[in-house]
Amino acid sequence: MVSSTLTAAVALLSAPLVSSHYILNILMHNGAAVGGEYAYVRKNSNTYMPSFFEIIDTNELRCNKGAVAGSTATYQDVQAGDKIGLKLFNSEFIEHPGPGFFYMSKAPGNVSDYDGSGDWFKVWESGPTGSPTTTGAWPTYGKYTMEFTLPTTLEDGEYLLRGEHIGIHENHVGKPQVNPSQPQPHVENCYYAQTTNLNLMNSSVSLYSHSHSHLIPIPIIPHATTQLTTPSPTPDMECAQIRITGGTGTAQPSPLVKIPGIYSRTDPGLTYNFWGSGGTYTMPGPAVAKS
Ligand SMILES: *[C@@H]1O[C@H](CO)[C@@H](O)[C@H](O)[C@H]1NC(C)=O
Ligand SMILES: *[C@@H]1O[C@H](CO)[C@@H](O)[C@H](O)[C@H]1NC(C)=O
Repeated sequence: MVSSTLTAAVALLSAPLVSSHYILNILMHNGAAVGGEYAYVRKNSNTYMPSFFEIIDTNELRCNKGAVAGSTATYQDVQAGDKIGLKLFNSEFIEHPGPGFFYMSKAPGNVSDYDGSGDWFKVWESGPTGSPTTTGAWPTYGKYTMEFTLPTTLEDGEYLLRGEHIGIHENHVGKPQVNPSQPQPHVENCYYAQTTNLNLMNSSVSLYSHSHSHLIPIPIIPHATTQLTTPSPTPDMECAQIRITGGTGTAQPSPLVKIPGIYSRTDPGLTYNFWGSGGTYTMPGPAVAKS
C-alpha cells in the first residue's frame, strides 16, 4: 500500500494526467459569463454525468439526464454573429482529452417549453489538431469555456444550444477511473495516471481533495495496452436557451438530425482509446452544418 500526498504521487507515476468531471452550466456571451450557473442552462438531475451509454438512445441525450422542458424559464438575447458558448461551473476547466461540440435546435415557440424533439444541427466542433493520444492536441483541453461565433445566416428565433464535451480517457478500462467496487467520490480533481512500475499496480495513493479538505485514496489500476472492457466515453452536455435576432435567415442548415440518433455505441470516436488506439480520430456525430 503506497500512501502519499499529491506531490509525491506525481513523482511516483510515469505519466500523470489531471482529470475530473464537470458541468457546462454558465452561458458565455461575447466573451463574458452571463447570469451565473443555470441562469440560462437547463439543470440536470444527477449533477455529474450518468454513463453515456445509458442515455445514448434516450431523449436524455438531448440536454442531459433530468434537464427537461419547463425547468428554465428564460433565455438570453443574442445577435446573429455574436460569440457565444458555455463555461464550466465552479471555475473548473476541461481536464479530459476529447472533442467538443455545439448543436442547435430551433424551438417552435417558447424555448422553455421545447422538448428538443425537432431537428438539430451541429454548428461547431473541435477535434484534435495533432496526435489524438496527446492532451495538447485537443484545443479544448485546459480551457474554462467552449465558445464559437454564431453564423449570421441563421433564422431568428428561440433555440436550444447544446454544448457537449466527450472525454475519451477512460475507454480502455470501462468507466471507473477509481476502483469500481467503491462509490466514486466527488473529487474536483483526481489523477488518472499511467505507470509501468508493476510494484505500484493495485496499490493506492491518496490525493488531496480541495472540496473536501481531506485525502482520498485512489487505487492504481493496471494500465491496459489493449481495450479490455466496454469503452466508456464520459460526456458532459448541457442545453442553454437563447433567442437570436439579426439573422438573415438565409441558411438552411444541413444535415439535420434528431437526438437521440447522433451517436451509436460503436462509433469509432466514442470507443477510441486515448491510451492505446493511436492513428487518427474520427469525430462522432453528423458533419458540421453548412450555413
Ligand atoms: C415560457 O415557458 C416558461 C416555462 O413553461 C414560462 O415560465 C414562461 O413564462 C414562458 N414565457 C412566455 C413568454 O410565455
Ligand atoms: C492486480 O489486480 C488484478 C485484478 O485482481 C490482477 O489480475 C493482477 O495480476 C494484479 N497485478 C499485480 C501486479 O499484482
